Formats: sequence, structure tokens, C-alpha cells
Amino acid sequence: MQYRRLGRSGLKVSELSLGSWVTYHNQVDVKAAIEMLAAAMDAGVNFFDNAEAYALGRSEVVMGEALEALKWPRLNYVVSTKFYWGLERDGNTVNRRDTLNRKYLMQAIDGSLARMGLDFIDLVYCHRPDPATPVEETVWAMSDMITQGKALYWGTSEWPAADIRAAWDIADRHHLHKPVMEQPQYNLFHRTRVEQEYARLYDDIGLGLTIWSPLASGLLTGKYRAGVPPGSRGALENMGFLVKNLTDSAKNDAVASLVPIARELGGNVAQLAIAWANRNPRVSSVILGASRIAQLQDNLGALALTPKLTPEVLERIDAATLSLAA
Ligand SMILES: NC(=O)c1ccc[n+]([C@@H]2O[C@H](COP(=O)([O-])OP(=O)(O)OC[C@H]3O[C@@H](n4cnc5c(N)ncnc54)[C@H](OP(=O)(O)O)[C@@H]3O)[C@@H](O)[C@H]2O)c1
Repeated sequence: MQYRRLGRSGLKVSELSLGSWVTYHNQVDVKAAIEMLAAAMDAGVNFFDNAEAYALGRSEVVMGEALEALKWPRLNYVVSTKFYWGLERDGNTVNRRDTLNRKYLMQAIDGSLARMGLDFIDLVYCHRPDPATPVEETVWAMSDMITQGKALYWGTSEWPAADIRAAWDIADRHHLHKPVMEQPQYNLFHRTRVEQEYARLYDDIGLGLTIWSPLASGLLTGKYRAGVPPGSRGALENMGFLVKNLTDSAKNDAVASLVPIARELGGNVAQLAIAWANRNPRVSSVILGASRIAQLQDNLGALALTPKLTPEVLERIDAATLSLAA
């Protein structure tokens, strides 16, 4: 495992990390989380991703209980959370959801700290942009979270490049803590934001990336080629919105054509897709998702493939996938 600086910051994160979206609480209980966190840490993973909205706060509870049981030295791991959607779905949701206003943010961090049982959270993200709150208000709140010692670094997730630059400029002008990282989707079928929209931000403001859905929610494992298999993410009731993409026949054919390339390199398609995301030097960390430990172990095998992605291999991968990529 190699470690990369999170953008221009001095913090080093493992090139592969582990997240909890969909899995924690729904598919992974505290016992399984302990097992998977330990296996990841044994393999050199030092960053574990979470969000307030995952399983409406219960993903943070699962991670908090697992971390408490593992008793790792606090210096050995980096955890994140994200704010925007809030926890309320019923009743009066004004100022409680779909916002990055100061009132919500300052209360949200306290809730996450309590659920995770931590004194501070290493990385905090604004989970989506909020056009109804001035960027300046959000920047002050995120910076204050750090000044108060409740978080160490802050960043954004799926923000347009112009908003990230605006946030950075405001922080620079007022000597506030600047956003240091973004968390965008990045995989063989989803490239534009990372490769084009953000292109100037990497050198201009030193933006780091922790990227999500390297397997496009499982599409890039090849397991959706004959439809949605039982027990998969696509079969979960509340994940129906993913099914159209997961079962797209052109994309599944493209995944099939990656199989021989992966085999030649001594791996499988999932490992090839993860290695492909990891080979991009702008990516600080590729966040893996796994509903069971065997998947995690399989996916960590991607590390062996990354150095094998020569320009010739990358060309063959592009020939199979680029025309289908957004
Ligand atoms: N910032 C954001 O907006 C955002 C959005 C999404 C995710 N994230 C973060 O990024 C992390 C990773 O995203 P993701 O979970 O979507 O990643 P992903 O790698 O695209 O998908 C992971 C899912 O694919 C299936 N899978 C993984 N490895 C497999 C294997 N070897 N063989 C067969 N199936 C396999 C599992 O689902 P099943 O077994 O259930 O099929 C697993 O939960 C999340 O946990 C979260 O922390 C952030």
C-alpha cells in the first residue's frame, strides 16, 4: 500500500480506502465492520469514509462502535463524515435537510461526533452544493469547525469546479481554513468531472481527490451481465434508481470485453477497474465499497495490477469503455 498526500495538505491517505455507503447497518453489522476494518488496516488502509446521511446516522454508529472495539491508536487512522442531507425525513425539516447553512452545519458536526464517539473527525465534507446558502456562509462554518477542534480538514463532494474555486478564494481572502479535497464519482464510465472539469484545480489550488464508486456500484465486477443477481446492491429495495445503469447492455458488454485484459494481467475485472482509478495521480485515495469481507480482500488485490497498466493496456481499456463514459 502506498500513501498519497491529500492534495496540498500534509496528511497522507492510503491509495485504497474503505467506505460505508449502503453497506453499514444494512448489510454490515458491527461484528462484520470490525472484521472488515481490521482486514483493511492489516492491508495498510488508513482512511475510512462515512457520512451523516448513510443509513440516516446509523452508519456512523456502526463505525463508532467498531472503532471503539478495535482500540486503534487515534493517530493510525483517518475518518470522514459529510453533511448536507440531514437526518430528518418527516415533520418540520426547515434548516434540517438539503442545506449547508451555518445553523445546520454547526449542529451536524456535534451529532456526528456523538454517534461516532470521537473527539474530532479528520475529514469533513459538504456532501453536495447548496445554491440556497451563500458559499461564504458555508466556508466560515466549515473553517470554524476546524478552529473549534471538531474537524481537521474540510472539503466538498460533487461541487462544480467554479464553486470549489469560489470557496477556496473566500477562505484565502479571509485567512480561513481552505477546502483541501473533493469527493467525486470516478470510474471507467464516469470520468469528465475528474479528468476535465477539475483539471485546473489540481495545480491552481492543490485540490486532492478521494473518489467514490470505483466499480460503479458493482457494474464493473461483471455480475450484472445476466441481470440483477439476488443479494446484490441492485436488488435492494431502495437502490432501484441504480438498476438502469447496472443493467445497461452496452456497458455490460464493455465489461465483458475487459475480462481478457484483466486475465492477462493476472487479475479480474473489478481489480482492473480499481487499479485504473488508482493509476490517476490526481486521485489521493480510491474509496472501496464491500458488502462482505471476501469482496474487500478481492478488491485489495487491485494494488498488484496498478503498475501493470502500461500506456498500451490503458489504450485497450479506453477502446472498450471510453465511448460509453460520461
Ligand atoms: N460522496 C458521495 O456522494 C459518495 C457517493 C457514493 C459513495 N461514496 C463513498 O464511496 C464508497 C465506495 O462507493 P461504492 O460503495 O459505490 O463503491 P463501488 O466499488 O462502486 O461499489 C461497491 C459495491 O459493489 C459490490 N462489490 C464490491 N466489490 C465486489 C466484488 N469484488 N465482487 C462482487 N461485488 C462487489 C458490493 O455491493 P453488493 O455486494 O451489495 O452488490 C459493494 O458494496 C462508499 O462506501 C462511500 O463511502 C461517496
